[in-house]
Amino acid sequence: MTTTESPDATGLGTIDRGAGRIDADSKRMINARADVNQLLPMKYRWAWDKYLAACNNHWMPTEVSMQADIALWKSPNGLTDDERTMLKRNLGFFATAESLVANNIVLAVYRHITNPECRQYLLRQAFEEAVHTHTFQYICESLGLVEGELFNMYREVPSITDKDAWALRFTQNLENPDFATGTPEADQHFLRDLVAFYVVFEGMWFYTGFAQILSLGRRNKMVGIAEQYQYILRDESIHLNFGIDCINQIKIENPHLWTPEFQEEVRGMLLEACALEVAYARDTMPRGVLGLSAELCEQYMHFITDRRAQQIGLAPIFGEQENPFPWMSEAMDLQKEKNFFETRVIEYQSGGALDWD
Ligand SMILES: [Fe+2]
Ligand SMILES: [Fe+2]
Repeated sequence: MTTTESPDATGLGTIDRGAGRIDADSKRMINARADVNQLLPMKYRWAWDKYLAACNNHWMPTEVSMQADIALWKSPNGLTDDERTMLKRNLGFFATAESLVANNIVLAVYRHITNPECRQYLLRQAFEEAVHTHTFQYICESLGLVEGELFNMYREVPSITDKDAWALRFTQNLENPDFATGTPEADQHFLRDLVAFYVVFEGMWFYTGFAQILSLGRRNKMVGIAEQYQYILRDESIHLNFGIDCINQIKIENPHLWTPEFQEEVRGMLLEACALEVAYARDTMPRGVLGLSAELCEQYMHFITDRRAQQIGLAPIFGEQENPFPWMSEAMDLQKEKNFFETRVIEYQSGGALDWD
């Protein structure tokens, strides 16, 4: 592939001593000529605002008490066999999914986003994915789960492997050291990766898992894990919205990439991803648990898929009007969650102040 990327698109190029000062208008999401090391003057305020919101949402999994979860998990009649299967597969999916997402940011996306305010958000997101992986380490240790079982599920449970293998294809396109954006073909590869990870992985595939655990929490079961998932959900809804804003901004700056054929291809990706998620829901809940069933999860995933299609400017795929889990949209409403988490946020903001005495 020919390289048309500007020589210091990475920010690691030789310093151009004679260059004029940059203005915000010369900044671009991809293939920028402007120096990627200069945060100011800022162009994309939406990226900076998400960085600030993410910092205000700081949390650590170890702040959540696991005592009630441990007691329930160890009690012979605490959970049904179906609930245990669902919980373990759910944790098994997330335990490595967070790592796949982090690797995609650090090893594929970051290098090709040529804008410092977006990179600032990506650095924060990468740390949050580390916090999420930490959460699964902490849950595994607290409940005394078999670590090899949990962390190998992405290789050993076919419905999980199918999803991860589907997404990895897109990041593998970018992993070649010779890959560079700057041709329509390469730029479309990059957009496909953003769709696969932000819209599908974080925007669709996490949501069955959130619904399962929050449903347990609503019944007063595994309340520590449910609280951690609410924090993760709050982070992920910003990740998703950042990805959507990136895709839409790249479309505005590069309308030639968003051809009718490419739009059809992206709709096909969403359709495939939805089918993989429905298969995963069947596999984790063969008989249904907690008022959830594979059928309701399928309806929910159709609803979510349509919403994601619309967010990136595509027509809905299924025409599903009804959300079978209306309580999930409450959990996703960031403003409500901000109020819910207010105490903790304030604690962090004051606890983080330095003492100079
Ligand atoms: Fe995450
Ligand atoms: Fe994420």
